[in-house]
Amino acid sequence: MKILITGSSGQIGTNLALRLLYGGHEVFGIDKRRNTWTDEFPYLLQDLAGHYAPFPGGINGVEYPETDLVVHLAAHAKVHQLVGEPHRALENAVMTFNVLEYARQANVPIVFSSSREVYGDVHRFEGYNEQAADFAYTESTYSASKIAGEAFIYSYARCYGLPYLVFRFSNVYGRYDNDLHRMVRVIPLFIHSMLRGEPITIYGGRDKTLDFTYVDDCVDGIVRGIEALAERRVVNQTINLAYGEGNTLVHCAERIAHELGTEPDMTLAPSLLGEVTHYVADLSKARALLGYDPNVPLDEGIARAVAWFREHREAHPEEDTFVRADHERAQELGQGWKTTPVT
Ligand SMILES: NC(=O)c1ccc[n+]([C@@H]2O[C@H](COP(=O)([O-])OP(=O)(O)OC[C@H]3O[C@@H](n4cnc5c(N)ncnc54)[C@H](O)[C@@H]3O)[C@@H](O)[C@H]2O)c1
Repeated sequence: MKILITGSSGQIGTNLALRLLYGGHEVFGIDKRRNTWTDEFPYLLQDLAGHYAPFPGGINGVEYPETDLVVHLAAHAKVHQLVGEPHRALENAVMTFNVLEYARQANVPIVFSSSREVYGDVHRFEGYNEQAADFAYTESTYSASKIAGEAFIYSYARCYGLPYLVFRFSNVYGRYDNDLHRMVRVIPLFIHSMLRGEPITIYGGRDKTLDFTYVDDCVDGIVRGIEALAERRVVNQTINLAYGEGNTLVHCAERIAHELGTEPDMTLAPSLLGEVTHYVADLSKARALLGYDPNVPLDEGIARAVAWFREHREAHPEEDTFVRADHERAQELGQGWKTTPVT
C-alpha cells in the first residue's frame, strides 16, 4: 500500500513509518519538522495548521503522491503544554480538519490518533471501554482537541461516507522518544535525570496509575488497523490501544532506577492541572476486532527503553544537559500553570 503519515518526524510516526517500510509498503510523511532519527523514507516539510483554501491534490495546493490511506498523527501532543498554550489545542483541531478535507477529496480512508485523555480523569468508571468517554468531563485543552478531532472524524463518516478508524493511545514509550529539548515525556525524562544523578518529581502522587504502552505494541495495533481498514474488514470503529495494565508512576521510576543500577531520588507532588491520574485501558475491542495482543509488559519495556536511551546517548553526548519539565519552563515564562490537590 501507499500510506501517507502526518506527524512522521514524531515518536509514533517514525516507528510506524519504518515498520511499514520494512513490511513492504510505500510511505510518504508530512511534518513541519525534519526527522532527526532517520532519512529512510521521503517526507514533505509542511505546516498543517494553517487556514488553507480548498485543496484537491494535497493541502495548500501541494500535490501529494498517490495515496491509499492516511494515518493522521500530527498534533501538539503534550497535555501540559496545551494547558499553558491553549491556542495549540485549536491548531490540533485545524490540522485534523485539513487532513480530513484532503482525505475526503482524495477519497482515502483515515486512521486518527486520539488519546485516553478523552475519558477525562474518570475514577467513577469500573472500566474504560470505548463507550465510557463523556465529553462533559473534558479534562484539559488537549482532551478538548482530541474530542474535537474525533467529532470531526465521525461527522465526515456520516456526512461524506469517509471510512475511518480512531485509536486511543496511552503513554506510548520506547524508541525515538528522547528528544527532550523538544518535548518532555515522563519516561525519557526520568531516565535522563537518573543518569545524571538528579532528583525526579512524581506529579500526581504515589497512587498515580497509568497504562504504559511500549511503542512496538502500539505500532503493531496501528498496522493491524491499517490492514483491516484497507480491506474494509473493520471500518468506522473507535478502539483503545494500550497494554491493558495499570502501573504506578512510582513503580515505573523504580524500574528505571533498577535498570540503571541506582537509587531514585523521588519527590511526590500534587497533580498538574488537566492531568489524568488513573487509567487502565479495556482492550476487549482491540483484541476482538484486530487480534491485537500486546506482549511487552512494563518491566520488559523499561529495560528496552533504558537500553535504547543509553545507546543513543552514547552516540549523542551533547544531549547530556539539564532539562526542565514543560510546566517549569512555562512557570518561568509566567504562563501560570497550576497544580491541583490530589483527590
Ligand atoms: N505518545 C503518546 O503517548 C500518545 C498518547 C496519546 C495520543 N497520542 C497522539 O498520537 C499522535 C502521535 O504522537 P507522538 O507521541 O508521535 O507525538 P510527537 O510529538 O512525537 O509527534 C507529533 C508530530 O506532529 C508534528 N506536528 C505538530 N504540529 C504540526 C503542524 N502544524 N504541521 C505538521 N506537523 C506538525 C510534530 O512536529 C511532531 O513531529 C499525536 O496526535 C498524539 O496526540 C500520543
